[in-house]
Amino acid sequence: MATERTLSIIKPDATRRNLTGKINAKFEDAGLRIVAQKRIHLTKAQAGEFYKVHAARPFYDELTTFMASEPVVVQVLEGESAIQKNRDVMGATNPADAAPGTIRAEFAESVGENSVHGSDAPETAKEEISFFFSGLELVG
Ligand code: CMP
Repeated sequence: MATERTLSIIKPDATRRNLTGKINAKFEDAGLRIVAQKRIHLTKAQAGEFYKVHAARPFYDELTTFMASEPVVVQVLEGESAIQKNRDVMGATNPADAAPGTIRAEFAESVGENSVHGSDAPETAKEEISFFFSGLELVG
């Protein structure tokens, strides 16, 4: 399996509850390296652009309002099979379905306010990383 990079977002429900360090520990304990990271406050338009694939979904307005409500931490995680590994560490989208010990099982409040986002495939990882980070910010 190859070394990969994936885009992760620690969402407003988690930054509000001061959970950045606890969530980062979950990534590092799973063997993922945080090779880039910054705390930003998205506008609703920026959140809408990032999640445009969901534009037709009934929860799109709720999702983009939430993502712009408070700061987020955007980060690039690197490691062996990082995309799948991150998805395993996050747990299922709905915390009610998330396996014990996963980030969403431990911290998420609801399917909408589910503490973290992670890329779902190599192509989206590439697009999502370049949405937030320039090559100069990826120091490895
Ligand atoms: P995420 O991995 O960030 O990708 C899209 C997000 O949409 C997802 O996590 C959820 O937070 C959100 N989402 C999915 N389904 C629903 C829903 N039924 N209601 C509100 N938000 C949702």
